[in-house]
Amino acid sequence: MVAKNRKSKRLKFGSTIQQAVEFGEVVFICVGTPPLPSGAPDLSAIDVVSREIAKHLKEYRVIVEKSTVPVQTGEKVKTAIQKYAKPGTTFDVVSNPEFLREGSAVKDAFSPDRIVIGAESDRAKELMLQLYKPLKAKTIVTDIKSAELIKHASNSFLALKISFINCVANICEISGANVIEVARGMGLDSRIGPGFLNAGLGYGGSCFPKDVDAFVDIAARMGYDFHLLREVQRINQEQRERFLKKIEQELWVVRGKKIAVWGLAFKPNTDDVRESPAIKICAALRDAGAKVRAWDPKGMDRAKEVLTGVEFCADMYSAVDGADCLALCTEWDDFKNADLAEVKKLMAHPTVIDGRNLWDPATMTKKGFTYRSVGR
Ligand code: UDX
Repeated sequence: MVAKNRKSKRLKFGSTIQQAVEFGEVVFICVGTPPLPSGAPDLSAIDVVSREIAKHLKEYRVIVEKSTVPVQTGEKVKTAIQKYAKPGTTFDVVSNPEFLREGSAVKDAFSPDRIVIGAESDRAKELMLQLYKPLKAKTIVTDIKSAELIKHASNSFLALKISFINCVANICEISGANVIEVARGMGLDSRIGPGFLNAGLGYGGSCFPKDVDAFVDIAARMGYDFHLLREVQRINQEQRERFLKKIEQELWVVRGKKIAVWGLAFKPNTDDVRESPAIKICAALRDAGAKVRAWDPKGMDRAKEVLTGVEFCADMYSAVDGADCLALCTEWDDFKNADLAEVKKLMAHPTVIDGRNLWDPATMTKKGFTYRSVGR
């Protein structure tokens, strides 16, 4: 898409903010807002870009916050631009949060569930509506602060759904129920919906952990303790610890055992290992004295940058060669379609601990594996 649109001269890249401000009626701010050690987002890039935009403003522009920012950032951006722009310059600030997922970014961008526009003036609203008209998506136009909050509230709610189903999974394990069936039954209620009810190792990635932390921090700064979300984070972390405990229960002593880890990316179809539960599990097993042999279809290079003391294997079968246990951490199709008879032959003992409910328990038992998964 980039190559095609560059060729037809519909897409240009520049290296100065001035070029962008002079060119476009609508200017998007898409810089990162990474977490500070406190969990609060670092807004310094937004500040720098706002001031730089201000310097080059000549005629009316709509400045759009696309980056995920705390509620009330719009006001700060407006003040910063007013301070640094020439007196009398006209502009509007708009909040237009982004909801796309890694691995399906293009699809999510062109067919979004909704478009959220937070704007103050009719002029800005009209320009934004005109811009998104070709997508024919449901659009909500609201005030800036509400738009900013929609982003943090949505991501935190999805994280909450995941932590909730993980708690239900733990009860399923104790009671003998099956979390997949429970989630199916819950999801058919249109008020609940079927999405984000997959129990497993918990959520990772560059958004959910960061956005939940940020939302807790934003609330705290306003004097509100969002303890529900702190619990969501705690449950998410516990989920990994429960998984490690299952490995330990099966192996008795972890030290000196060979453990194959399939999956390093935080979810399938991406090479991203940021905040990946798989990476934390590899590190914990390594620290417990296990010989960890890992493989991922796309995440190997990224994992090598952040993980030491682990053997990165040439393919998924060499990872299980001689292993006492296989820990499944990311639900790639490659693993779903693996030759399990071969896996069993290669392993020193056919124990599989499945953190993503990838395989069917009855089939795995029939194939001769000692098999444990999540919530069933
Ligand atoms: C997320 C949001 O979905 C997206 O709207 C936002 O713009 C950015 O953050 P992303 O981080 O790409 O997108 O991944 P997503 O598919 O949402 O998954 C996040 C994590 O939750 C993954 O680690 C995934 O394994 C986990 N997850 C997801 C579950 O454990 N269970 C589920 O049911 C769904």
